[in-house]
Amino acid sequence: MTDAILSCSGISMDFGGVKAVDDFNAVIGKGETVGIIGPNGAGKTTIFNVFSRIYIQTAGTLAFNGESVDHVDQVGMARRGLSRTFQNIRLFSGLTVLDNVKVPLDYKGEYTMAEAVFHLPRRNRMEKAVAEKAMQTLELLDLAKYADSSATALPYGLQRRVEIARALVSEPKLLMLDEPAAGLNPEEVLQLVDFLKEIKSKFEGIALLVIEHRMDLIMNLCEFLYVQNFGRTIAKGTPAEIQEDDAVLAAYLGEENI
Ligand SMILES: Nc1ncnc2c1ncn2[C@@H]1O[C@H](COP(=O)(O)OP(=O)(O)OP(=O)(O)O)[C@@H](O)[C@H]1O
Ligand SMILES: [Mg+2]
Repeated sequence: MTDAILSCSGISMDFGGVKAVDDFNAVIGKGETVGIIGPNGAGKTTIFNVFSRIYIQTAGTLAFNGESVDHVDQVGMARRGLSRTFQNIRLFSGLTVLDNVKVPLDYKGEYTMAEAVFHLPRRNRMEKAVAEKAMQTLELLDLAKYADSSATALPYGLQRRVEIARALVSEPKLLMLDEPAAGLNPEEVLQLVDFLKEIKSKFEGIALLVIEHRMDLIMNLCEFLYVQNFGRTIAKGTPAEIQEDDAVLAAYLGEENI
């Protein structure tokens, strides 16, 4: 399928007898916004870990941008255009916002050890380019005013944005967000929805895959949803279809009363 950015077939992930993911099949179109929902322990984060190659699936196949990536490692996925954030914010404490956002660009550094040690001109040019690119991304996301702030000293909602900025600096084709609204208050959730919609318009063609518990966020943002429970897909469809699905209501929505 040429217009899929990511597709997977029959993905399973076993942890010593625990089937965290059991026969997961999905297609994410280029530019699409797709959600994965489901109760705690449903296997959502494990799916992200397989897609980003932190885990290698115990069964099934994965393709990115039309290419089989079963043999590809985490860095290889980043180079191909997959980027993610984590359920618990992982910013580097003691680094500024700008330095945090520069980190993913380092793997593109192509200067030699000698140039690095002797501060030769090419190294300086590379560093300048990296800083400029990081700054441009902060400006685009209206975060430039925090460039010199200590990243982990910022309010939680802003830290989430900085983490998303860091994931965007490499201009990914697919951005995966693991519970981006976790720990945010209702007003911050609304701001996050706007922020994510802004990203879609400013990073043309980018696809989003979002894990979320907050139905207000997911229903407002996603075009298509997969509902996971105990490792299996119990429903998939548009948000409107999912809201009416009896199995989903029983397994998830009713229980959480949202
Ligand atoms: N590295 C691991 N080793 C063993 N078991 C694991 C590992 N990672 C996840 N699991 C198990 O797999 C299941 C799914 O976990 P996962 O973190 O993917 O769920 P989740 O849907 O993201 O849950 P939550 O909403 O709480 O974040 C759980 O039973 C978990 O304990
Ligand atoms: Mg999780």
